[in-house]
Amino acid sequence: LKSLFPGVVLQGQSYSRKRILENTLSLTMLFPVRLTGTKYGCGTGGCGACTVMISRYNPTIKRISHHAANACLIPICSLYGAAVTTIEGIGSTKTRIHPVQERIAKCHGTQCGFCTPGMVMSIYTLLRNHPEPSLEQLTDALGGNLCRCTGYRPIIDACKTFCKVSRKEYFFFFKDLIILERVRERERLSISLKLFSEEEFLPLDPTQELIFPPELMIMAEKQPQRTRIFGGDRMTWISPTTLTALLEAKFKYPQAPVVMGNTSVGPEMKLKGVFHPVIISPDGIEELNFLFNEGYCLTLGAGLSLTQVKYILGEVIQNLPEEKTRMYRALLKHLRTLAGSQIRNMASLGGHIVSRHLDSDLNPLLAVGNCTLNLLSKKGKRQVPLNEEFLRRCPSADLKPEEILISVKIPHSRKWEFVSGFRQAQRQQNALAVVNSGMRVFFGEGGDIIRELSISYGGVGPTTVCAKNSCRKLIGRPWNEEMLDVACRLVLDEVTLPGSAPGGRVEFKRTLIVSFLFKFYLEVLQILKRMDPVRSPGLADKYESALEDLHSGHHCSTLKYEVSDSKNLPQDPIGQPIMHLSGIKHATGEAIYCDDMPTVDRELFLSFVTSSRAHAKIVSIDLSEALSLPGVVDIVTEEHLRGVNSFCILSEPEKLLRTEEVSCVGQLVCAVIAESEVQAKQAAKRVKVVYQDLQPLILTIEEAIQHNSFFEPERKLEYGNVDEAFKVVDHILEGEIHIGGQEHFYMETQSMLVVPKGEDQEIDVYVSTQFPKYIQDIVASTLKLPANKVMCHVKRVGGAFGGKTYKTGIMAAITAFAANKHGRAVRCILERGEDMLITGGRHPYLGKYKAGFMNDGRILALDMQHYSNGGASLDESLLVIEMGLLKMENAYKFPNLRCRAWACRTNFPSNTALRGFGFPQAGLITESCITEVAARCGLAPEKVRMINMYKEIDQTPYKQEINAKNLIQCWKECMDMSSYSLRKAAVEKFNSENYWKKKGLAVVPLKFPVGLGSVAAGQAAALVHIYLDGSVLVTHGGIEMGQGVHTKMIQVVSRELRMPISNIHLRGTSTETVPNTNISGGSVVADLNGLAVKDACQTLLKRLEPIISKNPQGTWKDWAQAAFDESISLSATGYFRGYESNMSWETGEGHPFEYFVYGAACSEVEIDCLTGAHKNIRTDVVMDVGCSINPALDIGQIEGAFIQGMGLYTIEELHYSPQGVLYTRGPNQYKIPAICDIPTELHISLLPPSQSSNTLYSSKGLGESGIFLGCSMFFAIHDAVNAARQERGLFGPLKLNSPLTPEKIRMACEDKFTKMIPKDKPGSYVPWNVPI
Ligand SMILES: Cc1cc2nc3c(=O)[nH]c(=O)nc-3n(C[C@H](O)[C@H](O)[C@H](O)COP(=O)(O)OP(=O)(O)OC[C@H]3O[C@@H](n4cnc5c(N)ncnc54)[C@H](O)[C@@H]3O)c2cc1C
Ligand code: FES
Ligand code: FES
Repeated sequence: LKSLFPGVVLQGQSYSRKRILENTLSLTMLFPVRLTGTKYGCGTGGCGACTVMISRYNPTIKRISHHAANACLIPICSLYGAAVTTIEGIGSTKTRIHPVQERIAKCHGTQCGFCTPGMVMSIYTLLRNHPEPSLEQLTDALGGNLCRCTGYRPIIDACKTFCKVSRKEYFFFFKDLIILERVRERERLSISLKLFSEEEFLPLDPTQELIFPPELMIMAEKQPQRTRIFGGDRMTWISPTTLTALLEAKFKYPQAPVVMGNTSVGPEMKLKGVFHPVIISPDGIEELNFLFNEGYCLTLGAGLSLTQVKYILGEVIQNLPEEKTRMYRALLKHLRTLAGSQIRNMASLGGHIVSRHLDSDLNPLLAVGNCTLNLLSKKGKRQVPLNEEFLRRCPSADLKPEEILISVKIPHSRKWEFVSGFRQAQRQQNALAVVNSGMRVFFGEGGDIIRELSISYGGVGPTTVCAKNSCRKLIGRPWNEEMLDVACRLVLDEVTLPGSAPGGRVEFKRTLIVSFLFKFYLEVLQILKRMDPVRSPGLADKYESALEDLHSGHHCSTLKYEVSDSKNLPQDPIGQPIMHLSGIKHATGEAIYCDDMPTVDRELFLSFVTSSRAHAKIVSIDLSEALSLPGVVDIVTEEHLRGVNSFCILSEPEKLLRTEEVSCVGQLVCAVIAESEVQAKQAAKRVKVVYQDLQPLILTIEEAIQHNSFFEPERKLEYGNVDEAFKVVDHILEGEIHIGGQEHFYMETQSMLVVPKGEDQEIDVYVSTQFPKYIQDIVASTLKLPANKVMCHVKRVGGAFGGKTYKTGIMAAITAFAANKHGRAVRCILERGEDMLITGGRHPYLGKYKAGFMNDGRILALDMQHYSNGGASLDESLLVIEMGLLKMENAYKFPNLRCRAWACRTNFPSNTALRGFGFPQAGLITESCITEVAARCGLAPEKVRMINMYKEIDQTPYKQEINAKNLIQCWKECMDMSSYSLRKAAVEKFNSENYWKKKGLAVVPLKFPVGLGSVAAGQAAALVHIYLDGSVLVTHGGIEMGQGVHTKMIQVVSRELRMPISNIHLRGTSTETVPNTNISGGSVVADLNGLAVKDACQTLLKRLEPIISKNPQGTWKDWAQAAFDESISLSATGYFRGYESNMSWETGEGHPFEYFVYGAACSEVEIDCLTGAHKNIRTDVVMDVGCSINPALDIGQIEGAFIQGMGLYTIEELHYSPQGVLYTRGPNQYKIPAICDIPTELHISLLPPSQSSNTLYSSKGLGESGIFLGCSMFFAIHDAVNAARQERGLFGPLKLNSPLTPEKIRMACEDKFTKMIPKDKPGSYVPWNVPI
């Protein structure tokens, strides 16, 4: 690297990396030096997996600064003179682990580990700047880092160990822990409250950190500052270091962008294919990085980063009188939630303003603030106002191509001037606003007559929109209700949104326009009252809630579990909270994922061409242009695959490539193979496909019902006599609920590398999958090889959740075909957008119910219909509806039940398995029905839940026996632990005192049946070798995808062979060592494989017993050698044939499950009725996990699933165009829960261990069940919305679909503003999206 760029120093080891993104200037070019610890999760700055630390030395002030940044957006040329610290640079198992790496691992803050290097780098960088940060600083630093596995609680716990905690804060942090500790002391229980021991942590010693490279310091001090020019084949990068040189460059290349943070230009180049032959990127120009406080205004250099602006404003508001700082406060409020910290560190104020994004958070405020832009060019200075004309890019008001924005002048606010900013997004932080706004009013001394008024909005037009005419008309009016009413109408007339506006959510946006105005009205009224209590009427207390922030507080969590049975041997690891086996390697970046594997000699890259139409005939495919491009080796089409282009997935054959007809957008049409990734991707864009649309186009479930478009067969479950029961019940209700789909959003996208061995047609497939045997089968079939020639290897998977099976197999088969054809290794790694487009996710559901119930809430008859949106091919849709049916009654006994289910065939990518497999949807339908029954009976939902719950021994609808003792225990403990009754009263009191904010509380029980419905699906195998030095190698059929199955398997070997964990190794999963494995999923991976591992160990132990008994004091080395000398095999396979299970759909009876996981969760939320925002205040979860093998891993699964479920039911929303194209193709559009979303208080408690005879050490599988408990959040929001509606006199049934997004919450809290907005006549416009 040094030879490439002498000015960049990398604080890590040097290797060479396989993928060089040619012709781009992003940090990914650093990977020739093979620093693979930095992960690539999205490439657009949205996930934080690629976080690195950038350090620079400023020779003028002689200071070194450090900031975290997203490597995927950093142009490498911008790094001249900088030191880049990647995860490898801060510590490794070969040298010394850094305390951040140690603590995140030991606090169990890693599962699949793919997000971990990014998390570590964010925390590390913060600690370099603040060795004893506050928890707020830490959570702020992690705002731009997503984790799909852990649910963030353990990461926060790791962070807390670095915080300087005041006595008061200590109580908040650990208050419940302290209380529980006392209970434990009093009751002498063996319960445990911590999963790690802080005493063993390495201290953080700032003196031990890497120093800034002295050569860079010398270079900065001594080297004359000259413009640097980097030339490439297609692109030139110019870095002027003086203002004169910058102006000169801009004069010479007026069309070249001025790249500062690259957070706007970079994504445009990547996602929209914008190309700039010349880029100008100023470096260290002081005139762009200054701050000037002139007494009446603040002038900020355009080159200041948004983080610097945030810091400056924070200081300014401390030092100026309050009345002068109102604009600065409003800007600061928005800067706290704008993007994540990495983006704020990179993005510049000038770049933000000049980009003029429609959803810019700062421009609406700056536009109302009489701000001025100082421009400069070779021709001279100019000032332009930052107003609507500038934002609309009117030529007379815009920058000229050769001009540079030097600074922005922001006036101080005046005494009777008030400024506010508002925003609402899908997620509270790090999410672009749906609508935002800046508002300013000036009254003139002592009065409330409007002298000046400015209002602007973002998110409602192509750029920031100002309501100029409305404001003009309001001048001279007093600030009162009448003015507000007129203002709302004027603004709604002026800021119009057509029904088909891009981004959709049109009615929500219209409502926010007036809701924000109302908030501003109240805010000003309140200040006026404070300033002059006599003249101003002020607000009733009840309405003040419109202005208060949503609940906030210190994150606090408690965990409670019973420590393992002391009967076991002292070193017995079963029941101990042992860290994930790869935890430290995740944290140091040494854990190898598929894409981290070094380049194989002459390796090629494969990129797919996918269909752009949802239902069409392919008229022609023109490959000629693509084939003529440099580096392109081949394009695989259906023609090449003749005879092998189809593979039977479960019961339906599926085509690998399409060339005749496509039935959804994102279907694989052909595959381009090229020498490099960039060449393959560029060529894929040049393949020309001509389509002819076909009818019908079926997208929604309703359309499928209309066209009778279903997969066969329909499934039905019936119990008792429903029709008779309906005749005797007191009431009958009918209802329905829609549940949206969900994207897996595993952090590691689909990845595979296929290596032909060049001998005997052998082929190695390295792939990120949950199902190696299936990959082996489909590859063997496609290559017409016997399975014994195809070996599939999986070291670890960076998250899967059900999404890495069948589609993965299809892509692996095509990749293998290309590799085999050319006799060269082929790699295929999907970009996030491609992955989301191609792979499908959780099935959207429509549930219809008819319930017959008594006055006391007992449901005696239930008739249900489930419709799932299966997409274009069957995949696992039938299994999903079957599992949905078998689990639909959740924790309730419905004496008369009929439920039918259909999987709809539609023109979407096939939906597939996703954690919970039909249960999260089916369970929600049932719980919604119960909630409605409770409302009809005028009873509390928890009462109706309790009265219908299974009690002790009973029978499920498929006649399997169930003992619900632990269900009731979980429910009761959850009610107690959450102080349900007390808190319910508090919520009611809060609601009666607050009109615009409401709280809601809900408790939901869980019965999650575990089992696969057939014996064969549950068989598992293992292989254990003992070597002559006494060390053990174990392997089994399960895949490590974050759930810690390998860790548990080592615990099993350790217990069985009575040897320390350090003696046992596990390399990964391969079809070479354990053949014919089942899919890893369904919560049973550790259960089944554990029994196989145990079996292998017992076989070995039995063989070795005579030897051990002869020398009981011997070591494993002694025994292994003795066995070898006596010709006793030291290798054994283990086998488990599967749980006895069966299910007959003909009779509707069976014993499909082995056991049930029970639980309950109680959640409390607060909502803002005016914006639809919600905050999760507290969640209590109680789970029955049997005897936990590893409480740390099990609690991790419960929490991770809970947060994923919370995402499913509250914020994750997929958007499709009316033509069936997925819009939401990355973290910037699709929001999974971030650190800001987790409940402020989270309490997890495991029931005391309970024995069961058949499972592995009486343990229970917990991978999926927790996801359903996320719906406690859904029903808590439901409760809060209900409270709002009742107060507004709306007593009818409340129907809310999932996910309960801010849009749905706001629109359900009907009020005068929702009534005021114009409504479009259905059919009069083409909506931007279709609700699926
Ligand atoms: C993941 C992510 C999340 C985001 N979230 C938010 C959010 O929540 N809210 C929000 O408001 N925004 C958000 N943004 C947008 C972000 O604020 C802007 O991309 C950023 O401020 C642009 O600044 P930059 O320095 O990176 O611009 P660059 O990409 O470097 O440049 C952008 C444009 O500005 C021009 N330019 C830059 N400086 C000058 C100058 N001095 N003179 C003349 N022209 C100049 C360039 O020519 C270019 O056309 C997000 C962006 C990303 C990638
Ligand atoms: S990969 Fe860079 S932020 Fe996602
Ligand atoms: S551990 Fe965070 S994404 Fe898997």
